[in-house]
Amino acid sequence: MAAKTDFHGKWALVTGASAGIGAALARELAGRGAKLILTARRQDRLESLAAELLAQGTETRIVIADLNDPAAPQQIYDATEGAGFTVDILVNNAGLGQYGAFHQTEPEQEFSMVRVNCEAVVRLSRIYLPRMIERGRGFVLVVASTASFQPLPYLATYAATKAFDRFFALGLAAEVAQYGIKVTALCPGTTESEFFEVARASRFRTRKLQSAEEVARLAMDALARGQRTILPKPSGRFTAFLVRFLPVGLITHFVEKGARPKPEPSRD
Ligand SMILES: NC(=O)c1ccc[n+]([C@@H]2O[C@H](COP(=O)([O-])OP(=O)(O)OC[C@H]3O[C@@H](n4cnc5c(N)ncnc54)[C@H](OP(=O)(O)O)[C@@H]3O)[C@@H](O)[C@H]2O)c1
Repeated sequence: MAAKTDFHGKWALVTGASAGIGAALARELAGRGAKLILTARRQDRLESLAAELLAQGTETRIVIADLNDPAAPQQIYDATEGAGFTVDILVNNAGLGQYGAFHQTEPEQEFSMVRVNCEAVVRLSRIYLPRMIERGRGFVLVVASTASFQPLPYLATYAATKAFDRFFALGLAAEVAQYGIKVTALCPGTTESEFFEVARASRFRTRKLQSAEEVARLAMDALARGQRTILPKPSGRFTAFLVRFLPVGLITHFVEKGARPKPEPSRD
């Protein structure tokens, strides 16, 4: 178990803090004594979480931003580090998926996955890391997924963005360790959140979901001790282990069969 004081008194920026895992990560960080900057698009959600954290004595700020906009990361930086808040903990959590046959899904949501799950993560990390390196301290959490370990037909773009996130985090971790910065790739399995509604993937909601609170607690323990990958769900650890030994083509073949969208029931 990592020391509770690792994040104490430090400013943490959490993207996607308006729901699910991001809100849980913010609460977990607050519980460990961090000060919080919450960002997402839904102002009412952020205000209500900020009020909750403030009532518990946590200094909290909110920044409304849409990470589809390539200018948003710089705007977030200007409103935080640029306004005198030293961000020592960057949590790249915001993300979305979309389930369905790629040629039939909503194209904008496919493109949004690339922008929010990948481009914004690179932009935010590129903007905040130089100051962390100057200070010789910092933490970066990148929320990937168990979907990063194999291709997922019918969630093809999503799995590819999460493979990107995991590899990005692992590469970065090795690069910046020499400057005293810890980077962790968080790879949750199916977790209680709004993800399934946004992704139109409610059929996967039936599987046993892990609580976002448990994911957040395990993630922060891992980040504090500098663990580079954390798989909070036991079934996810098993899958990640298994895919090392099975041919990727074989796994993808079986996933395609299991995940194929069911035909709409006839209305006759
Ligand atoms: N739930 C799971 O089973 C699961 C499993 C593995 C990995 N993950 C990953 O966990 C992360 C968090 O997802 P979640 O499960 O907590 O889903 P969620 O409940 O839907 O939360 C997603 C968060 O991302 C934010 N977001 C989405 N698009 C955004 C945009 N364009 N600009 C700014 N913020 C945006 C949302 O805020 P607004 O809508 O207010 O902007 C929300 O706060 C994601 O990276 C996801 O890929 C989830």
